[in-house]
Amino acid sequence: MLLKVDNLVKSFGGLVAIDALDLQVNKGEIFSIIGPNGAGKTTLFNVISGKYRPSSGKITFEGKDITGLKPYNIARRGIARTFQVTAVFSQFTVFENIVIGHQLHAKSGMFGAVFGTGQAHKDARESREKSEKILEFTGLTDISDKPIANTTQEERKRLSIGLALATDPKLILLDEPVSGVNMQEMDGIIDLIRKIRDAGITVCLIEHKMRVVMGISDRILAINYGKKIAEGTVKEVSSNQQVIDAYLGVKDAA
Ligand SMILES: Nc1ncnc2c1ncn2[C@@H]1O[C@H](COP(=O)(O)OP(=O)(O)OP(=O)(O)O)[C@@H](O)[C@H]1O
Ligand SMILES: [Mg+2]
Repeated sequence: MLLKVDNLVKSFGGLVAIDALDLQVNKGEIFSIIGPNGAGKTTLFNVISGKYRPSSGKITFEGKDITGLKPYNIARRGIARTFQVTAVFSQFTVFENIVIGHQLHAKSGMFGAVFGTGQAHKDARESREKSEKILEFTGLTDISDKPIANTTQEERKRLSIGLALATDPKLILLDEPVSGVNMQEMDGIIDLIRKIRDAGITVCLIEHKMRVVMGISDRILAINYGKKIAEGTVKEVSSNQQVIDAYLGVKDAA
């Protein structure tokens, strides 16, 4: 088991966004989280990645307690994430974004990047090489010099995945990686997610489109009002009556 969440609670004032949630993600799997709007999916990622401290509960990664660590430390342990709304430096090109993403994570950090230490020069060369590999892996080599302002939603989705991969994660958290892309582009991103898993990186995926979730997941967690309503294989979760009532019946299941 790679990630374990025990009795997790996150409240915002009186609103309990995550309510006594338990889950386990196994090494090497694609684990999807489904649930209606406002169910607490993004909040769960925000707590796992350290953006928010949990109100209570415990998060264990590779057997070590990471509860309440800062985002930077959690990234260092090997957890990367993408955001529901793609966060990139819009004044730069695709390639520059990946290089910046990688350098922010490199050994010398900002100090070396600013003061030009020997380590920083070595880091810079490694960053370029690494960035080229990531562009290739994510299918962005051909548009590496495109300014972000001219990219499509699909290209930005791929870039945000590339930025997460630039930190060399063991676990990647993807928040709605195919939202706003067309069907053909969607298939391309699904292939990329499989490729990430096949490269040995465990994937946690938040997704509304049932065709994607059912086609790609090894296991699924369904939540509603921050509480678990089902966890299991595609077959188990899709035949669960509570899931059908709370989610499949209400949301567009396309
Ligand atoms: N920073 C915050 N402050 C206050 N309330 C918040 C905050 N973040 C999330 N919430 C609330 O927590 C609940 C869960 O929100 P969350 O964004 O996790 O839902 P979600 O399942 O990701 O929904 P969607 O499918 O629409 O993205 C919502 O009621 C939301 O308004
Ligand atoms: Mg969300």
